[in-house]
Amino acid sequence: MILHKFKNQAELDRVAADLMMSVVRGRPNAVLGMATGGSPVGLYQEMVKSYKQGLISFKEVRTFNLDEYVGLAVTHPESYRSFMQRNLFDHIDIDIKNTHVPNGNAADIEAECRRYDEALYQQGPVDMQLLGIGHNGHIGFNEPDTTLSRFTHKVTLKEDTREANKRFFNSLDEVPTHAVTMGMGSILHAKSILLVVKGQEKAEILDRTLNGPITTQVPATLLQTHPRVIVLTDCDVNYKLSHS
Ligand code: GLP
Repeated sequence: MILHKFKNQAELDRVAADLMMSVVRGRPNAVLGMATGGSPVGLYQEMVKSYKQGLISFKEVRTFNLDEYVGLAVTHPESYRSFMQRNLFDHIDIDIKNTHVPNGNAADIEAECRRYDEALYQQGPVDMQLLGIGHNGHIGFNEPDTTLSRFTHKVTLKEDTREANKRFFNSLDEVPTHAVTMGMGSILHAKSILLVVKGQEKAEILDRTLNGPITTQVPATLLQTHPRVIVLTDCDVNYKLSHS
């Protein structure tokens, strides 16, 4: 993994956006893996800014989002489809039919997971997968567990994850209990991974991600096995390159 530390988030957002856009400049029909949550909002704003300045086009870009809540209307402002439209897709020239977010309202969720993986494997591998990290080390919605799934699947959200995401809803009761997420296999299949970690309260989980033993109890530690992971953070952490 490569760790870059930033003093301010604006600078981090700019670099993160530049990395994503450099992939598109090199391959106009690139496949980008998209994330939601608070961490990517600033970098999406930077991408919109560059598009509006005429510096980049997303006309041929294809995107796959990591996850979506189950049972939340797609039109709900906190559905991840709504999030992506509001923060990015509505403001750039991407073709909406090339943007993929799992359907958390499918009558047959199992079939929806299979459909999502088939589309991902047909169009992939993802050129650059953007990731945030949960306080418990989840990526996408792959929650800590004794085993992790390879493919897209339905998950029961941990109570600490629901607590953390409560800030986007009126109350905890409104936070969905389930989600659909890309599996660890699909995430690790990406050619490169960009992990964005913001806020000093994430320093401890980032330290475990970078330096801790690889364990399914901290899903993000599996990123240690991937050959091309760039971590951008404003946390005060170190990446220990040796045993000492
Ligand atoms: C949600 C998303 C994750 C994201 C995490 C952290 O749970 N499913 O993909 O990484 O939130 O979000 P934030 O950046 O808001 O801390």
